[in-house]
Amino acid sequence: MADGSSETKSSNQMWGGRFASGPDAIMEEINASIGFDKKLYAQDIRGSIAHATMLAHQGIISAEDKDKIVHGLDTILSEIDSGAFEFSRRLEDIHMNIEARLAALIGPAAGRLHTARSRNDQVALDFRLWVKEELQKTEKALTGLIAAFLDRAEEHAETVMPGFTHLQTAQPVTFGHHCMAYVEMFGRDRARVRHAIEHMDESPIGAAALAGTGFPIDRHMTAKALGFREPTRNSIDTVSDRDFALEFLSIAAIAATHLSRLAEEIVIWSTPQFGFIRLSDAFSTGSSIMPQKKNPDAAELVRAKTGRVNGSLVALLTVMKGLPLAYSKDMQEDKEQVFDAAKSLELAIAAMTGMIRDVTIRADRMKAAAGSGYSTATDLADWLVREAGLPFRDAHHVTGRVVALAEQKGCDLADLPLAELQAINSAITDKVYGVLTVEASVASRTSFGGTAPSEVRKQIAWWRARN
Ligand code: ARG
Repeated sequence: MADGSSETKSSNQMWGGRFASGPDAIMEEINASIGFDKKLYAQDIRGSIAHATMLAHQGIISAEDKDKIVHGLDTILSEIDSGAFEFSRRLEDIHMNIEARLAALIGPAAGRLHTARSRNDQVALDFRLWVKEELQKTEKALTGLIAAFLDRAEEHAETVMPGFTHLQTAQPVTFGHHCMAYVEMFGRDRARVRHAIEHMDESPIGAAALAGTGFPIDRHMTAKALGFREPTRNSIDTVSDRDFALEFLSIAAIAATHLSRLAEEIVIWSTPQFGFIRLSDAFSTGSSIMPQKKNPDAAELVRAKTGRVNGSLVALLTVMKGLPLAYSKDMQEDKEQVFDAAKSLELAIAAMTGMIRDVTIRADRMKAAAGSGYSTATDLADWLVREAGLPFRDAHHVTGRVVALAEQKGCDLADLPLAELQAINSAITDKVYGVLTVEASVASRTSFGGTAPSEVRKQIAWWRARN
């Protein structure tokens, strides 16, 4: 089978009965999907074997024809696996490429395979199988990323760093606590993946073109053979539904967004100005002109891949939004978006897992930054409430004056002499110095889910039991 361009124009051998001539070259180009849907060959063959086996079991085709079909499909699978198979654009898509080859291999029996099915339920099946496998891979990859964060969190349960809001120093936190925030995010992504797998675990095959079929097929049998929980319930919905692809893309877009935020932090933290982390040589690059540079390219590319993934979600939503039920050819545009997003997401998770495992944490730099910017001002206000009985609003005001004084003197809160503090509020005693250090600050935040090392260790244990 050569590519269409060198062949004479004749009508399609699969559906050409009522066509006098073949398609215009441009028609062929816009119509063909083989360039990308050949990725579905293994799923297509699995689906056809299950379908043929069911047809024979139900007495719709003979056992002899079924054996020929299965044998032929096995041969085609190894031909494609080994790269020997020649794909033809004239045969449009993976379904017809395989069926035409089957006819060449086993003769007329091949023509019986398409009994009681259509390419509409066939493509819905192939693509659903592919997306389901991809979701299973994503689940594993996220588990690996979560494990990397749990290890780093454990190692740094006591490491102090500044916590930020508005990217301004807010309150001291532990680096372990910050790592655990990402565990929560990727944990939610993984929960969405698991839910989607459950959601889409229904077999489309047997819905036929849209209305079902008069042949006595057994859809429960094919569903079971293909590893689905049950068959879909409505044949019209089955061939017009691409929710499983949209769910995959939405999950991918949210996960990619999480990865992008992490990437952004890595970019910021690895600057000389922050210096919180040092990237490993394995996940950074040098500059061709500036010898001192080490660039966070992997993180930047993860951040950028998010654009592609989000774009794919919007593209498929836009393809689907105006389609009347049931199948329309528009839906052929679903695959490239999903394939591209899946590849980007896989790569981004793998790169991040590597970066998190390899990155050097500069605890000294984090600690120095944690103490600057009056990060323990809230601790002073809380101390005034607790020890001096001030209402929080008054304590906030007193603390504001203390911060202004420190700013004016160019020193940290802990460096202000007691007499000057007492001049602002006479209830202050020298016990206040005990809460002004960053270590005391984080150790005191023992509320459930808080940043105290003791709390962070509880969060780690909770996740270890579930990862
Ligand atoms: N290549 C097509 C797709 O990906 C397969 C289904 C074609 N069905 C049809 N009625 N033309 O959507």
